Amino acid sequence: MCGIVGYIGKQQAYPILIKGLQRLEYRGYDSAGIALINNDKLNVYKAKGKVAELIQFAEQKDIQGTIGIAHTRWATHGEPNQVNAHPHYSQSEELAIIHNGIIENYAVLKEGLKEQGYTFSSETDTEVLIQLIEYVKKTNKVDLSTAVQLALNQVVGAYAIAVIEKSEPDVIVAARKGSPLVVGIGEDEYFLASDATPIIEFTDKVVYIGEEEIVTLRRGMEIKIVTISNIEKTPEINKLEMTLSQLEKGGYPHFMIKEIFEQPKTLSDSMRGRVNVEENNITLSGFIDNKEKFLNAKRIIITACGTSWHAGLIGKYAIEEFARIPVEVEYSSEFRYRKPVIHKDDIVIPISQSGETADTLAAVELAKSQGAFIFGICNVVGASIPRNTDSGCYTHAGPEIGVASTKAFTAQVTVLTMLALIIGKEKGTLSEEQYLKITHQLGLIPEKINHILKQNDSIAQFAKTFTYAQNFIYLGRGYNFPVALEGALKLKEISYIHAEGYPAAEMKHGPIALITQEMPVVVIAPNVGMYEKVVSNIQEIKARKGKIISIVTEGDIVVANLSDYSISIPETEECLVPLLAAIPLQLMAYHIAVVKGCDVDQPRNLAKSVTVE
Ligand code: M6R
Repeated sequence: MCGIVGYIGKQQAYPILIKGLQRLEYRGYDSAGIALINNDKLNVYKAKGKVAELIQFAEQKDIQGTIGIAHTRWATHGEPNQVNAHPHYSQSEELAIIHNGIIENYAVLKEGLKEQGYTFSSETDTEVLIQLIEYVKKTNKVDLSTAVQLALNQVVGAYAIAVIEKSEPDVIVAARKGSPLVVGIGEDEYFLASDATPIIEFTDKVVYIGEEEIVTLRRGMEIKIVTISNIEKTPEINKLEMTLSQLEKGGYPHFMIKEIFEQPKTLSDSMRGRVNVEENNITLSGFIDNKEKFLNAKRIIITACGTSWHAGLIGKYAIEEFARIPVEVEYSSEFRYRKPVIHKDDIVIPISQSGETADTLAAVELAKSQGAFIFGICNVVGASIPRNTDSGCYTHAGPEIGVASTKAFTAQVTVLTMLALIIGKEKGTLSEEQYLKITHQLGLIPEKINHILKQNDSIAQFAKTFTYAQNFIYLGRGYNFPVALEGALKLKEISYIHAEGYPAAEMKHGPIALITQEMPVVVIAPNVGMYEKVVSNIQEIKARKGKIISIVTEGDIVVANLSDYSISIPETEECLVPLLAAIPLQLMAYHIAVVKGCDVDQPRNLAKSVTVE
């Protein structure tokens, strides 16, 4: 959470920083701010709210400078207001800092600094850090990068920071621990950011800054990296694969709808080079490299948060069915703290779109420390989680900007399904015939999604009917129970309508008491798996006058006749239904939120990358 950007070079920094903030706004949008050095002055401009507010505020000012840092905030310490917005000055206003993360021992540090005469204007942990850097700098009479290094040795917590100094207009010092930081290398200029999206239009050469590393970007000089324990590091230059068009809305009103419509392509990308449609065969290099580990695994533990956790549940159903390996699916935030039993021959699979989720990263570290083999499933290439795993598979869904995860979810399910099929085939727990049949069907999924997307207009129409609702229930069984959870999460996070997902048969154990004629109940009822049982569950709701919205297989008139609204999906294998059923649920949530006038891409209180626990 929070996005940071920096620039030093020959261009005016302001437009680069503002554009960078707009790209990173998905990381938090409580406030935005910018600091630039010009003519021996260190100027800070900040505003509560989104980057647009900052632009409006800055409009009347003459903002110049070829060095600057900027921040978009998701509030942790201190309410979202202008005073708590970053950048923060040090006491003398000689230094300014931006920060993504949490300084856990800030209270102790603050007390110590107060005793030295420091005063504080904000409630943030970040202001404590910049005062500490200034104090260390003055008392030790050292340069900025040494001061940052010495100060960070006293800090407990997570950070990606960038600091500038009024009297040093040619230097930015940045550092990271637990929060991401990327440096872009241009011609006589450097960029820095929380991810590569603000950098891509200027250069495709990037250096991912490692844990506890401090980078000094000096105008006209080579990039210099040392660790906080003073070990020099050689920067490793990587080439970015991302394209600029992936970061733009491309004519769609919101990133979310663009990303929903991208799914036929993103799923093809996830399968490219992995699913051979002619031979109905799957090749996953991450599996091939670690085949023995998978074949001998006694247990798999999946750890993830939010939507990625839902994808993990679907993965559990598939791996247990095809590969006959027991799978536990854990919320990373619980797993990391509850002293779980982890064996050396366990395979731990962290799933994360961003690759930066703090709890999932901590779960990885815990599992690693206990000797488990870590196989990551991530979307963002080069992010912290894939850098901390033993092996893994990228989902290749491309940048996901909408806070609500859509294409990343279906790509995660696709990768997990491929993994389950290939382990099952190699172990002999899945027959050759089944393997070929499901793999063939998997290859057809992108085209089937295209077909479902054609119902967008009619989904938009009936979605209008439901904006009155205060609550929704989503039901599914088997592979579609996690889809129900995901459908409910999509609706609540972007439309602010309370929604719950349940296994359909659980209704009788309590939630059925909620059913009235006001209550919309979304039922995922394809003609596979426990179809008849789901039909009975629908009857039970119908008998209590609930409003039924069903997801049915094309041609199914039984469920369609029982429903107030039904959306059809093409026929497929049971394990692949989630890839199709998720699409109408995403569209429905999107359209309800749009009609309600909600900010679908940046819902209140949320951020895309949850880099704090
Ligand atoms: O980047 P990750 O996949 O680790 O993120 C996990 C969750 O924060 C994320 O899936 C969240 O639940 C989404 N906003 C849901 O749409």
